[in-house]
Amino acid sequence: MNKIFNDNAIAIMDRMIAKDYKVDLVVTDPPYPTTSRGCAGNSGGMLQKDINKKGKVFENNDIHVKVWGEKLYQILKETGHCYIMTNHKNLQEYLNVLTDIGFHFIKSLIWDKGNKIMGQYYMSQFEYILFFRKGAGVKINNCGTADILSIPNKKTKDNEGKNIHDTEKPIELMRILIENSSKENEIVFEPFMGVGATCIASLLSNRQYIGVELDENYFKIAEERIKKA
Ligand SMILES: C[S@@+](CC[C@H](N)C(=O)[O-])C[C@H]1O[C@@H](n2cnc3c(N)ncnc32)[C@H](O)[C@@H]1O
Repeated sequence: MNKIFNDNAIAIMDRMIAKDYKVDLVVTDPPYPTTSRGCAGNSGGMLQKDINKKGKVFENNDIHVKVWGEKLYQILKETGHCYIMTNHKNLQEYLNVLTDIGFHFIKSLIWDKGNKIMGQYYMSQFEYILFFRKGAGVKINNCGTADILSIPNKKTKDNEGKNIHDTEKPIELMRILIENSSKENEIVFEPFMGVGATCIASLLSNRQYIGVELDENYFKIAEERIKKA
């Protein structure tokens, strides 16, 4: 099954829905703009409703949580888990919209990034990982996992010393989520894969993956990284 698409996540999800194709787990890191200072964490993100107005952004980031959330819900198997990474700016809207769609909010996990970003209201050191389920509750595989996940926020550099992606996530972090909420050979879906952290983590954890990325440059980097994993 392992498959990645250089396409719009909405188009791919529509195709999956048309074929009544389901996945076992969703682990996703949806797009949101960074600030002019380059902060992509919880000190800097913008509200979804402001997304088109200003800010240094990904080339593609104008997709609303309701649009992708409804499709994700249809694609996820009954009793499947869904992890969604976000910052405090989008937190309230994500929770409202996603629970209206039908997702049950289990709890919020914290990714403690190790590094701190200056801000007016406390320095920022974490991002949210919103943990949802569809249908009846199924416990995670390792109930001894704490809800604060401390994994250093290390960025991979290209040949010129630039980050390959400004919001690259650690593979180790994604593996914890994947291994807790799926079994070997099950299918993990990431509609906004960037440079491929969720797909690589799935591969290393012996899960199957489906990933989508609209930006051709990020897609090619993801393709290369997956080949080397
Ligand atoms: C927060 S980043 C994901 C980063 C990823 N976790 C990683 O480690 O590289 C979100 C990604 O979604 C992509 N994106 C934005 N709109 C999209 C769309 N409609 N379909 C697919 N990908 C999209 C952006 O180009 C961006 O790379």
